[in-house]
Amino acid sequence: MQNIGGCTLLEGQNVEEVSISPEQFGELLKIQQVVLDLITGDFNKYEALSKLCMLAEAMLPNSIASIMLVDPKTKLLNVISAPSVPQVGIDALQNLKPGPNAGSCGNAVFRNEPIFVKDTFTDEKWRDLRQLAYDFNLCACWSMPIRDKNSKAYGSFALSSFEHRSPSSFHKLLLEIGASLVGIILKHEQQTAIITEKQAGLELAYTAIENATEAFIITDADNKIIMLNNATEQIFGFDRKHILGKNPKIFASGIHDLIFYEDMWEMIRDTKSWSGEIWNKRASGEIFPQQMSIKAISDNNGNISNYVAVMTDVSRYKEAERQLEEINKNLENIIKDEIAKNRAKDALLIKQSRQAAMGEMIANIAHQWRQPLNSLALTIQDEKVAWEYGEVDKKYVDEMVKTSMGLINYMSKTIDDFRTFFRPDSEKTDFNLQNVVATVKNLISANLDSNGIDFIANIPENIILHGYKNELMQVLLNIINNAKDAIVENSIEKPIIEILAYERDENCFIVIKDNGGGIANDIMDKIFDPYFTTKEQGKGTGIGLYMSKTIIEDNMQGNIYAENIKDGAMFTIVLKKQSA
Ligand SMILES: Nc1ncnc2c1ncn2[C@@H]1O[C@H](COP(=O)(O)OP(=O)(O)OP(=O)(O)O)[C@@H](O)[C@H]1O
Ligand SMILES: [Mg+2]
Repeated sequence: MQNIGGCTLLEGQNVEEVSISPEQFGELLKIQQVVLDLITGDFNKYEALSKLCMLAEAMLPNSIASIMLVDPKTKLLNVISAPSVPQVGIDALQNLKPGPNAGSCGNAVFRNEPIFVKDTFTDEKWRDLRQLAYDFNLCACWSMPIRDKNSKAYGSFALSSFEHRSPSSFHKLLLEIGASLVGIILKHEQQTAIITEKQAGLELAYTAIENATEAFIITDADNKIIMLNNATEQIFGFDRKHILGKNPKIFASGIHDLIFYEDMWEMIRDTKSWSGEIWNKRASGEIFPQQMSIKAISDNNGNISNYVAVMTDVSRYKEAERQLEEINKNLENIIKDEIAKNRAKDALLIKQSRQAAMGEMIANIAHQWRQPLNSLALTIQDEKVAWEYGEVDKKYVDEMVKTSMGLINYMSKTIDDFRTFFRPDSEKTDFNLQNVVATVKNLISANLDSNGIDFIANIPENIILHGYKNELMQVLLNIINNAKDAIVENSIEKPIIEILAYERDENCFIVIKDNGGGIANDIMDKIFDPYFTTKEQGKGTGIGLYMSKTIIEDNMQGNIYAENIKDGAMFTIVLKKQSA
């Protein structure tokens, strides 16, 4: 035995050749036993690794054991356990880069093979760590790589000795077993972490399902219920014990026929899922609607192993839906009533405004009759003179009757026109615009003539409209009367009222222009309001244009608007043409 530096050199014995004794095997078995016990008990990775180091150290007097692992990010080696090494020693070893001169552990990882250095003071493999060897009197160092499942080294298990020495077969085996125990401990730690995480996830899922408001049921392949949650008990009113092991048929309401369930199962077979509304029955016998989805779960061989059903009680929604429907129905009736009332109110207003126009109309009739009445009077007076002068012969009488009848017919027609106007429309009809304007002209021309107003109507022949004919006539009369009033009020010199019509796309435009001076800008947006008038009391009620707008827009689904033109006002009525 010789002493070099602080180290003793064990010479003269080839330790590698010494065979392992039964006691040594016993020791090795004991280490394994201890580590396995640690793993199965209250496991702590650091405790287990440290215990392993200490047990290994006990197998080699004057030695220290250490475990280093490669940091996956930095690829550098770090000490993870070395219970007998002082902190300064551990600090000196941290962040060791594996390489050909990085000591026994740096080499074991670098070369991925066991490294047995007998003399760390001289061996090239220890070149970078020589100072460490001197400082801590590490004379020999044997290191075994720890390998992953692909046999790649990711760490080392080492025994360093305060004597220069080579490992015996026993020590080599000790290192080998130690390295694989480290692997087992680390793997176990990893798997424990995964299991703990999964366990936490499962517990969370279980709690969530237990406390969900939806009923949740899992059945086995034979459709026997193996799991259910609180909501299932509450919704169905059965106790858990009563449900477990049963077929979900216990919830069937009896409302659905066989075909319903056959279709449902066919769908589950084909698509592995089904969802829809189903009526089920509570323990109390009450039936109620549920929104249900079923999912079939397959095992690794593709065979259905379970069915999962989630059911939402939709009776409240159904009730709300029913109430909503009722409200809607009521609302519809209310609206219908209101529309009917409005229509009745409009009809009354139209009638009233028509009666209001009656006075004006009587004036119109008077105007219209004045001229033919005068002619009749003249004809009768002429007859007397002719008789006195003996001029009355058959020819004369024929002529006189013809003239008189012509005048009487004309007057009778005027009466007919007025009668038509005063009769309210009972239903919508198709009518020709030109005829309507001709009638309006007939009703009003004498009145306009007497005020010296030129009335020009320019309506194409075949515009057919659909709606309330008399009401449209009333609108035209309202507008023309307003124009006449403006003209009279402003004493216009060459007064003209013009009505024309043209078609564009599916619409017909009726335009009434006057040169009565126009509508003041500040009242333009009020003229269609009810009871808006600028006329003195007794002359205007202010409902003419309001009624006109109601008739055109509400009753005939058209549009009416006013604007000013050069010398007066222009009213435009837009109505849908009746398609031929
Ligand atoms: N062509 C027009 N030129 C100038 N002002 C007009 C014309 N048409 C309507 N107006 C103005 O619009 C107001 C409202 O007209 P509307 O026909 O609704 O009522 P009114 O003619 O005053 O009364 P009535 O109920 O007897 O028709 C009129 O008072 C008048 O000031
Ligand atoms: Mg008016």
